[in-house]
Amino acid sequence: MTSEPSAIAFDPHDRRFVDEGVPFDLLARIRAEQPVYRTPSGAWYLSRHADVEAALVDVDTFRAELGPITGIPAGCASIPADQHFLSEIPEPRHGRIRRLFNAIFAWHRVRVLEPILEAECNRLLDGLFAKGGGDLHGEYALSIPAFAMAHIMGLEREAVELFMQWSSDGTMMTRPATPGVPAEGPASHVYFRARIAEQRALPEPTNHVFKVLLEAEIEGRPLSDAELATQLHFMVQAGVHTTRSFLAHLMNRLVQDPDLHARLDGDRSLIAAYLEESLRHDSPVQRTTRIATRDVEIGGVLIRKGETVEMGIGSGNRDDAQHSAPAEFRLDREDPRAHLAFGAGSHVCPGAMLARLEGATAVRVLLGRARRLERVAGAIYPPLPGSLGHQPIPVRLVPR
Ligand code: HEM
Repeated sequence: MTSEPSAIAFDPHDRRFVDEGVPFDLLARIRAEQPVYRTPSGAWYLSRHADVEAALVDVDTFRAELGPITGIPAGCASIPADQHFLSEIPEPRHGRIRRLFNAIFAWHRVRVLEPILEAECNRLLDGLFAKGGGDLHGEYALSIPAFAMAHIMGLEREAVELFMQWSSDGTMMTRPATPGVPAEGPASHVYFRARIAEQRALPEPTNHVFKVLLEAEIEGRPLSDAELATQLHFMVQAGVHTTRSFLAHLMNRLVQDPDLHARLDGDRSLIAAYLEESLRHDSPVQRTTRIATRDVEIGGVLIRKGETVEMGIGSGNRDDAQHSAPAEFRLDREDPRAHLAFGAGSHVCPGAMLARLEGATAVRVLLGRARRLERVAGAIYPPLPGSLGHQPIPVRLVPR
């Protein structure tokens, strides 16, 4: 006699996952038993790689919606258009503005950052070595993406501190329309409006990001200051917090898995595989939200127009229909980039190469300086796999 499967209770927004780790066993059950899963709040959750990928690509049927995560449950429909983040703008306007992002984060522009990132990683490690160790999250992983973004935008070091602060205190998850935010917008908007005014006052913008954005003409007119502040805010929102999480996962695993450290130390060419397997196995963006623009059927389940559909990126990346032994962390996957960590389709992450460069540099510089990474006795470490939070990663560094 077989017993009835118990009802599955999974809330993709559960804040506990951030500190306690993602319940991947439960997601495996959902993929097997209810791959198009109805969450307790009534949203749909796509759990299989193939469904997530197809829905991400089908932007006409599934429109991106970040309203709820910025404290606006009624979503884009209730938010003034000049506050729509790049990913929320419908085609064809999305594609036109997206080209500006592509120009800013093109590989030939990003790759020249390598020695600058290397110097910054070394500077941060000097501070850690001076005291024999420290926190690889707060004193390393957190700063590198903020530094990279501030540098790309040609901003003073003060911006690094601000980006770190806004990524940690929730500022980046708001916009002027968020209830409780002052009319002039969150601190990031006030800050970016001042930088826009400075650059406008010059005969020509001195920084490439501002030059591309200020000189653009989209559908016959330049972007307004409100649109520019929105997109600059979004660059930090999309590029700093995510990459911080990625670097934290890389550091956490290196500290907790001495064999892995030894393998990478013995063969630095494995770093690229390490980055991809971390992105797949411990995806920094576990899900992203869409609204169905029409009735649509997936796997025999009817999703109605207007319903919320969560794209289970982290779950799709653990789908055994796509990856063999998906729960294992392996450096020898045949197609290490066949994951959805950066999304898919026309909204695929434009910062992926920058994120990879930051990850590779942070790992390589650390390996080059530390012969061993030792756990601190009695310290509590973020869970492996898949912690997304801000927990410290204490370490004792043994120099070469
Ligand atoms: C490991 C780090 C990162 C991860 C895991 C990541 C992940 C993602 C994902 C999953 C999407 C698609 C979202 C969706 O379709 O709803 C996305 C989009 C985006 N990402 Fe990243 N990202 C990372 C780093 C960056 C960086 C460094 C930047 C630099 C600015 C960036 C900027 C963006 C932007 C602007 C979009 C929206 C693109 C569009 O809608 O056309 N990301 N990212």
